[in-house]
Amino acid sequence: MTTLPGTHESYWMDTVPPTPHPALDGDVEVDVAVVGGGIAGLCTAWELAREGRSVAVLEADRVAAGTTGYTTAKLSALHGLVYARLRRTHGVEGARLYARSQQEAVEHVAEVSAELGIDCDLEHVPAYSYVESADRVDQVRAEVDAAREAGLPASFTTDTGLPFDVAGAVRVTGQAQFHPRKYLLALVADLLDRGGQVYERTRVVGLDEGSPCRVTAENGATVTARDIVVATHYPVFDRALMFSRLEPHRELVVAGPLPADRAPGGAYLTSEQNTRSVRTAPLNGGRRLLIVTGEVFKPGTGDTEESYLRLAEWTRERFGVEEITHRWAAQDNHTTDRVPYVGLFHPGTRHVWVATGYGAWGMSNGVMSGRLLASLITGGSAPWAELYDPRRLRGLRDAPAFFKLQASVARHFIGDRVATTHVDSVDEIPPGSGAVVRVHGRRCAVYRDDSGDVHAVSARCTHLGCIVAFNAAEEAWECPCHGSRFGVDGRVVHGPATRPLEPVDVERPR
Ligand SMILES: Cc1cc2nc3c(=O)[nH]c(=O)nc-3n(C[C@H](O)[C@H](O)[C@H](O)COP(=O)(O)OP(=O)(O)OC[C@H]3O[C@@H](n4cnc5c(N)ncnc54)[C@H](O)[C@@H]3O)c2cc1C
Ligand code: FES
Repeated sequence: MTTLPGTHESYWMDTVPPTPHPALDGDVEVDVAVVGGGIAGLCTAWELAREGRSVAVLEADRVAAGTTGYTTAKLSALHGLVYARLRRTHGVEGARLYARSQQEAVEHVAEVSAELGIDCDLEHVPAYSYVESADRVDQVRAEVDAAREAGLPASFTTDTGLPFDVAGAVRVTGQAQFHPRKYLLALVADLLDRGGQVYERTRVVGLDEGSPCRVTAENGATVTARDIVVATHYPVFDRALMFSRLEPHRELVVAGPLPADRAPGGAYLTSEQNTRSVRTAPLNGGRRLLIVTGEVFKPGTGDTEESYLRLAEWTRERFGVEEITHRWAAQDNHTTDRVPYVGLFHPGTRHVWVATGYGAWGMSNGVMSGRLLASLITGGSAPWAELYDPRRLRGLRDAPAFFKLQASVARHFIGDRVATTHVDSVDEIPPGSGAVVRVHGRRCAVYRDDSGDVHAVSARCTHLGCIVAFNAAEEAWECPCHGSRFGVDGRVVHGPATRPLEPVDVERPR
């Protein structure tokens, strides 16, 4: 196996350890049950508690430890080159509403931090979307124009503070970056002070849309509530064919210290070189931590070890970082029209809500979702409710992305079944590695640990039945269809699956 640089843990998880909360072990009644304790769920729960609602958060693992614990944590209304696209697809007014809702979210974090006295390393920085290729400068100029029209203080520049030349960049002032776990765990503490309930290690497996609604955990415990918020990242329930409109992408992150006087002073992004996103975070001893994200891939595809090495090499070469101290990975979902789904889950419900599809911009979007959902659930409104409404109709412009996504899922569903998988026999799998093998006519996901013991589970994803693939760098099984992830023992690591991969005995004689 390749030796990869750095500790395999996110800087945010490494520096702020989990604060344990009990599992749900009885039946509870509240005004609102929030399923999922990432930034979307926690912000929604906190805003509702502030409005005087009784709230229970149900988290399958630990709060602020899903994608939110493995993010880059730029807090920005500049999302790549989004405004030129939004102007085309949603008109000038749609782009304005998007900009305002995102910018208000950025400012809300500063206001709430001041109100609650949260020290979350919040720093105000300019955000840049840059290109190195002269051929793409026109796209940058179009973005400057669209972002300004949308109401953001955007300008064109080639002076970014990066230690290499760029052909052009959009610069937007008044953006921010923070430590997401410091912020969110402080919100959780305040939520508990306001009478909110937080349950961890509580995986929700059932949703009953009655009046009131009810969610059921794996152990049979229930929460009855007038309103349910599904904030599980990829929604674990699909009442609106959302699985056909969300596409998962996984990204890698590496981080290492730099002398503070060599640290670039902004938050940067380019879609070139398969995406490079750059920011820094404060460290002691006159240093800052350079955090670089990139190498986007579809879960269950690609060589993750190679990608990590490429990202680490780019980081060393471009910034002179001597040591990579951390590496981590996470995934996010794009909607087919690139605007998140935040609102009522489907046309037939009045009390089940969803927040998803942040397209790698879930910090501002998570905060925006919390405010929007709390407002809608308590009978209020927001000018951008319609823009984010998950029940919106797909326009013609959305159709190519929708059909491309369906074709890709179908290709994996059928192709991965008939394709000859990686090895013919369990004996071929070296220690510390995994592969899909046909055993007694059944596709099995087989992992051999470093001591040579074999761990075998069904390779059929428990969500909708696609075949999983092994991610060697993270030692996990990944489903290419909707991004479910499983440990080598089959346990669910990431939804939409809620049930583990079934254990199989590959050594049993036929
Ligand atoms: C590498 C990377 C870098 C990024 N960088 C940025 C950035 O710089 N700025 C930015 O704005 N965005 C960024 N993003 C995007 C952002 O991190 C995500 O959009 C955001 O964290 C998603 O938050 P969430 O609350 O929706 O999901 P999560 O944080 O994943 O929370 C969902 C929670 O639901 C729980 N759950 C799942 N199923 C169940 C169940 N059945 N029952 C109970 N609980 C369940 C999970 O355990 C999890 O804790 C980045 C994303 C990636 C992948
Ligand atoms: S995640 Fe949907 S089939 Fe695996």
